Amino acid sequence: MRAALLCLSLLLAASPSVAEGPLGLAAPGDITASGLLKHMLPRFSLKTGVRVVPDEAGPMRLAPEPPGDPVFGRAGRVYHLRTGDDPRQQRFRDWLLSDIGKRTVESFTPADGDPFTAQFDTVIADTAPSFDGDAARGATLSLTHCGRCHVVGPENRMGGLGSTPSFAVLRALVDWNDRFQQFYVLNPHPAFTQVTGVTPPFDPERPPPIVPVSITLDDLEAILAFVSATAAADLGEPLQHQ
Ligand code: HEC
Repeated sequence: MRAALLCLSLLLAASPSVAEGPLGLAAPGDITASGLLKHMLPRFSLKTGVRVVPDEAGPMRLAPEPPGDPVFGRAGRVYHLRTGDDPRQQRFRDWLLSDIGKRTVESFTPADGDPFTAQFDTVIADTAPSFDGDAARGATLSLTHCGRCHVVGPENRMGGLGSTPSFAVLRALVDWNDRFQQFYVLNPHPAFTQVTGVTPPFDPERPPPIVPVSITLDDLEAILAFVSATAAADLGEPLQHQ
């Protein structure tokens, strides 16, 4: 009888953590490589008993652009944390935004590269022109369609074609927004780009030399929102060629 009770109480004690498991956090490669997560996550777990582990699949996501809560900065970039309604995710967010969380971030010294800061200006909304469209969707679209040739952000920092200007460099041009709005008529794009309802079909005599980029005007709006938001955090930083 006593043994059965003990079993039952062990089961009860164990079930919540078994049911919930560790919480996944997706982070850009440069953040993971810096060692910040290894420094930060165990400290959060120790305080709260909630285990957070790096996981590409999320559900929580750190990214160098909105949406999300700006949580820390590095080298002129502001990283945002996207969380869901789940209380454990909210708890992680609140911790990261708290003084203790900020101190934890700032007490970390990366072996390479710039330190992290929890003091940053979120100038994004004031300085960047705003676009309708969803910057997060734009980030994914940019990676998929443009990331084949352009470095679009830290996510494909090592990707892209050497001769192709990175989005960060293009974004620094005063007329970046004109260029992006009409990129599909600017060379080399017309040869392989279709914008639904806008561009004429490819000339059957000259089929696209590569797998075509096929997007809608909505997609382009989202890409513009992404480009607008990403680089605004870099304002005032010297241009960095990859
Ligand atoms: C197959 C490779 C390739 C793909 C895919 C590609 N680009 Fe480009 N893009 C280039 C190259 C190469 C240049 C530089 C052209 C030059 O310097 O004349 C360029 C230049 C640009 C420019 C500057 C154009 C100018 O004349 O000022 C913009 C804006 C641009 N790309 C946006 C995009 C966007 C947005 C996407 C995705 C939807 C994309 N590109 C996909 C190769 C590509």
